[in-house]
Amino acid sequence: MADPVLLDIAGLSLSLPSPAGDLQILNDITLRLERGRTLGIVGESGAGKSMLIRAILGLASRRARITGAVRLDGQHLGALRERDRRRYLGARVGVVFQNPTAALNAYQRVGPQVSESARVHRGLTKMQARELAISLLDRVGIPDAASCHDRFPHEFSGGMKQRIMIASALAVEPDLLIADEATTALDVTVQKEILDLLQILQQETGMAMIQVTHNLGVVAGRTDEVAVMYGGRLAETGPTPQVFAAARHQYTAQLLAAVPSLDSPPDRDLRSIPGQPPDRLIGITGCPFAPRCHAADAPCADRMPVLRRDPAGHGAACHHPPQDVPLPEQAR
Ligand SMILES: Nc1ncnc2c1ncn2[C@@H]1O[C@H](COP(=O)(O)OP(=O)(O)OP(=O)(O)O)[C@@H](O)[C@H]1O
Ligand code: SF4
Ligand SMILES: [Mg+2]
Repeated sequence: MADPVLLDIAGLSLSLPSPAGDLQILNDITLRLERGRTLGIVGESGAGKSMLIRAILGLASRRARITGAVRLDGQHLGALRERDRRRYLGARVGVVFQNPTAALNAYQRVGPQVSESARVHRGLTKMQARELAISLLDRVGIPDAASCHDRFPHEFSGGMKQRIMIASALAVEPDLLIADEATTALDVTVQKEILDLLQILQQETGMAMIQVTHNLGVVAGRTDEVAVMYGGRLAETGPTPQVFAAARHQYTAQLLAAVPSLDSPPDRDLRSIPGQPPDRLIGITGCPFAPRCHAADAPCADRMPVLRRDPAGHGAACHHPPQDVPLPEQAR
């Protein structure tokens, strides 16, 4: 029987040289994703979400120093030569990025762009590729897919272009679909349509999915597991319902408090977390969230909290979890 773990990230760290010294962009990330399950990676801008995806896919800068291991379906990706890794991942992983306009080639008809990866990795003929592209365009909700096959990207709206990108990511029948802020550039109604579409496709195909977002609202009810990142580290991770019901990291608690709810007063301002993301220069000894945390004390500034998971996989790197030191009233 196949190992249920599809993606296994073990102690992944990544640093980049800079004129001021090395920058620690990712620090000791350990995560697992089982086949057919959905993981949400959440954190504010600069948390390291996209760098984590790039590191998984072997797309980080050549100057990056990477330690730790990423295994997909048991294959240690770092042990493969670049060309072999590209081929291995290309046949198993589909990726949808934030900006479909930049990702699509403006001068090429959309159909061949949708089937391109399948032509490369599955060796389809031109006719088979055309049939596949039309069926995928139809599947992601592009009306009159057969005639759209021969149109150019500029003839489609932002939401439709993102559907085309999703069709293209599905072409190899991936085991894993990664959506990095795939709906951030779209208006709220289209955002929901695309998120619903991804969820339906994931359930239909049984592929695993990673949803990268700065919006906790996107992962609520749509993911099995969540990983909250702060300053290049995992602040908290666990089954989504558990993390939402009882956050164990002060940063997660603040993020959750910042999500507007239907019973919020209509005139209530959207809350954001005061303060700046941490400096990435190597050498921080304490919790990176300490300068912004109401519960921080001297040990928080001195001693890096360690993330320990319970048997259900829920854990946080926090010395004083919200259960012990609740958020002040004005922050809720
Ligand atoms: N080429 C680079 N050189 C130096 N630092 C970089 C480089 N690329 C990214 N970084 C830094 O790495 C950190 C993580 O960036 P990343 O793009 O992963 O953030 P993110 O969580 O995806 O944010 P966003 O929500 O804005 O997409 C940031 O501090 C960023 O400034
Ligand atoms: S370790 Fe300390 S500073 Fe960091 S989030 Fe927890 S309470 Fe706040
Ligand atoms: Mg990003």
